[in-house]
Amino acid sequence: MTAPVASSNTATTKTINIIEAAGLPFDSRALRDVLGAFVTGVTVITALDEAGTPYGLTANSFSSVSLDPPLVLWSQALTAPSHPVFRAADRFAINILACDQVEISNRFARAADRKFEGVPVRVGLGGLPLLEGCAAYLECRKITSYPGGDHAVFLGQVERIERTERPPLVFGGGRYLVAQPHDLGAFSIDLGIASLARVHAVRLASAAVAQLAAELDETVGLGVWGNQGPTIVRWEPARRPVSPNLRTGLVLPVCTSATGICFAAHLPPELTDGLIRRELLATPEMCSIFDAAVEAARWAGVVRLVATRDFSDMYGVSIDALSVPVFDQTGTIALALTAIGHAGQLDVDPNGRLVSALARCAEGLSAQLGHVQPDHNGGQR
Ligand SMILES: Cc1cc2nc3c(=O)[nH]c(=O)nc-3n(C[C@H](O)[C@H](O)[C@H](O)COP(=O)(O)O)c2cc1C
Repeated sequence: MTAPVASSNTATTKTINIIEAAGLPFDSRALRDVLGAFVTGVTVITALDEAGTPYGLTANSFSSVSLDPPLVLWSQALTAPSHPVFRAADRFAINILACDQVEISNRFARAADRKFEGVPVRVGLGGLPLLEGCAAYLECRKITSYPGGDHAVFLGQVERIERTERPPLVFGGGRYLVAQPHDLGAFSIDLGIASLARVHAVRLASAAVAQLAAELDETVGLGVWGNQGPTIVRWEPARRPVSPNLRTGLVLPVCTSATGICFAAHLPPELTDGLIRRELLATPEMCSIFDAAVEAARWAGVVRLVATRDFSDMYGVSIDALSVPVFDQTGTIALALTAIGHAGQLDVDPNGRLVSALARCAEGLSAQLGHVQPDHNGGQR
């Protein structure tokens, strides 16, 4: 069979489907990539060897099987150094990690002798170690195991369970994620409760920003107008990060940051004037530059900051930045999406791929927040 020639993104997707349907080989990297689309929790599975020494490994192959009787499974690579212990053990304990246990996950994902050293544990059924601070626990008796290619599948009967208040750690696409409810429901917007609506906006946008950063491989931040001015509530780093100093809660200047100018261009002046006046008093030479930047932002719909050294303290280098507004149903700017990169390395072309991807993302989010674009006659479309 001849595979069709791919001529667009859609065609590429179809081509891959056709190849797989025909049973043609795909490499393990492509398989991992596809499996990474199935987002999971993260567990550390523990057992004891015959001498009572504890063993543990990070695993996301854990899955529920049956409620009555209560059965679960997980699979282990035959090559894992601890495999002989788990194969011989008649019990295992599943520790479902909490969102602040990335370090524990990394520690138990490395082949090492003293994985438990310094890790607070308590003793569970059969003397098995249960890691403190997890989201949930399932203590199991191993019923059987099955061969599964290069893995062995262990089936366990659940004998004791515990759920704590801690939110779980999430893993997908080869990295750790944070679980958030998909939606607060339309009620938060219908009721016009501004703060709830903003939480809703930030949640929606967080997912979109993560996707955008991964697609473009650029660092993208999500800004809100906080009580101290433009505040970054989320950074999604590119594979080659801009700076280790990009932290959540970073408050930016209004007049010299792309995010700040974006808010200044679209927020009512009574909200921004005080901060702007204070900043421009300290740097009066910025007045005309700032006015022009605000005007350009309103006109072009995007703020472009090229080779600014204003943040060299923070980033250590000169940077380029782009920022676009997201509007809510009242037509108020709710968020700013900001991409930053080292000067000269960010595609700041107004007709380029990055500007259009940011604009598309912002438009999509605005539409989800109920924003209706005004038409050219001043009405609403
Ligand atoms: C998020 C994540 C999930 C993993 N899931 C599994 C799994 O399901 N089964 C497995 O055998 N290894 C899995 N691993 C790899 C093991 O944790 C790793 O090979 C570990 O070193 C095995 O422990 P050992 O060296 O003490 O045998 C996973 C690693 C990570 C980071």
